[in-house]
Amino acid sequence: MNILLFGKPGAGKGTQAPKIAEALGVPTLATGDVLRGAVRDKTPMGAEAKKYMDLGKLVPDDVILGIVGEELAKPAYARGVMLDGVVRTLPQAEGLERILTKSGRKLDAVLAFDVESEEVVTRLSGRTVCEKCQTPYSGRSPGDTCDKCGGALVRRKDDEPDAIRTRLSVYEADTAPVFSWYQRRGTKVATVNAVGSIDDVTKRAMKALGR
Ligand code: AP5
Repeated sequence: MNILLFGKPGAGKGTQAPKIAEALGVPTLATGDVLRGAVRDKTPMGAEAKKYMDLGKLVPDDVILGIVGEELAKPAYARGVMLDGVVRTLPQAEGLERILTKSGRKLDAVLAFDVESEEVVTRLSGRTVCEKCQTPYSGRSPGDTCDKCGGALVRRKDDEPDAIRTRLSVYEADTAPVFSWYQRRGTKVATVNAVGSIDDVTKRAMKALGR
């Protein structure tokens, strides 16, 4: 199955993607994680992407489509993929469609996590992430260790108030219209209430996928 997770920053995509992906038996591809890996490894792409990410702006479409094309060509994704954080613009949606069609694949569903912006600000202001495996946490402090891999928990630079505000405006201007683009094209789309316990949100997402 090829599933795309959609939603505001802080909606819970990174929390839910591994859970739903595990239940479906497919790997996750999170462009934010790939980009942060490139920043950490100090690659030229990472240095370029960091300029946008720290400010809460979108990394250019050609960089994102390059990552997606390269990743989806790997055998690991032959049985399907859980896309987290991609696509965020109409050119990315069109580019993803070209990449999938070229290899005889198509999107099976788009799941949109629905949450109010006030809740997003609260969540992101209290988030820490593992600097190694990127698992997000709430209610944990920088310097604590990750339950999954023992890595150190850090605050993301783009979780500062100014960057959160920018990310939310960018979402409304560039990303939200992509959802109706999929609706118009007849792709299966479902909105999932993303407020409540993490397990409840997972159950709602699975139900929306007919599981
Ligand atoms: P990315 O890393 O994808 O960031 P994002 O989309 O802004 O999403 P977040 O990771 O902030 O939130 P999330 O929805 O994953 O929420 P999470 O599960 O962590 O991208 C970062 C940057 O990279 C972008 O700004 C851009 O610069 C660049 N980029 C990436 N992809 C790109 C693309 N395609 N095009 C262009 N640029 C791109 O949860 C948030 C918090 O809430 C956590 O603390 C979590 O524990 C908590 N939480 C989760 N669920 C619940 C719940 N049900 N109740 C209470 N708390 C919850």
